[in-house]
Amino acid sequence: MTAKKTTVADIVARKAAGGDKLTMLTAYDTSFARLVDGTGIDMILVGDSLGNVVLGYDSTVPVTMEEMLHHARAVRRGTTRALLVGDMPFLSYQVSAAEAIANAGRFMKEAGCEAVKLEGGEEVADTVRAVVRAGIPVMGHIGLTPQTAGQLGGYKVQGRDRESARRLLAAARALESAGAFALVLECIPDELARLLSEAVAIPTIGIGAGPWCDGQVLVTHDLLGLFEKFVPSFVKSYVRLAPQIKTALAAFREEVTGGAYPDAAHSFPMDGEVARQLLAEEEGRAAGDHD
Ligand code: KIV
Repeated sequence: MTAKKTTVADIVARKAAGGDKLTMLTAYDTSFARLVDGTGIDMILVGDSLGNVVLGYDSTVPVTMEEMLHHARAVRRGTTRALLVGDMPFLSYQVSAAEAIANAGRFMKEAGCEAVKLEGGEEVADTVRAVVRAGIPVMGHIGLTPQTAGQLGGYKVQGRDRESARRLLAAARALESAGAFALVLECIPDELARLLSEAVAIPTIGIGAGPWCDGQVLVTHDLLGLFEKFVPSFVKSYVRLAPQIKTALAAFREEVTGGAYPDAAHSFPMDGEVARQLLAEEEGRAAGDHD
């Protein structure tokens, strides 16, 4: 682990040098950003998964620029070493290249991000080119793209047949030529991810894309086992925090209702003399009231 600030050039150079696999995790607030940053993770993504994970939406579609910027600023305050990537929400880059540049610029200027990520294949290559030309590093995202999951037939593995696999290969090449510095590959077969990773010089960061990508990304809340209902099958939960949290919350409730908390160890003792004087004053006042 290095304390040196991670740059886009470091990320690209790692693949070229055949170095360690890259790591990226999501964060949406300062406290999680500090934890992730402190473990030497290479990149922190303020993902639009914010919508599902934190804001309680059913998908990433409703997430707004203002919501993303609010959380990206909080993550910025907890990040000193990792490269900070802001995820462009639905319709913040599709309307026009000018709007895409303006919104990507807001991630840099208003939230201190060092790169942005946007979803899509060949159809967004010109937008990526325009944003990169404006001086903003872009990470692509192909395969299962949650913002347009409806068009893809739902949250399904992509690139299983020859035609869609070829489309993804063309997309990876188009995004690389447009200047993307890395590519997220989401939910595609492992051998296709290997092919894509060999086809481009920029690093591929897999999520549900097998072991041959140049790096891996997960939603931190999934990795920590914070959800009790649905977790995608490709996610490895390294700890199951949800039951532990619920046990702790229930213990607090029981101790407060039962009077066990706060005890002397968790209270501030008062100076004995001050307490005696106060008591004497109050007793004097009470006696006066009865006269
Ligand atoms: O929004 C997000 O968290 C993402 C990752 C899953 C790659 O896009």
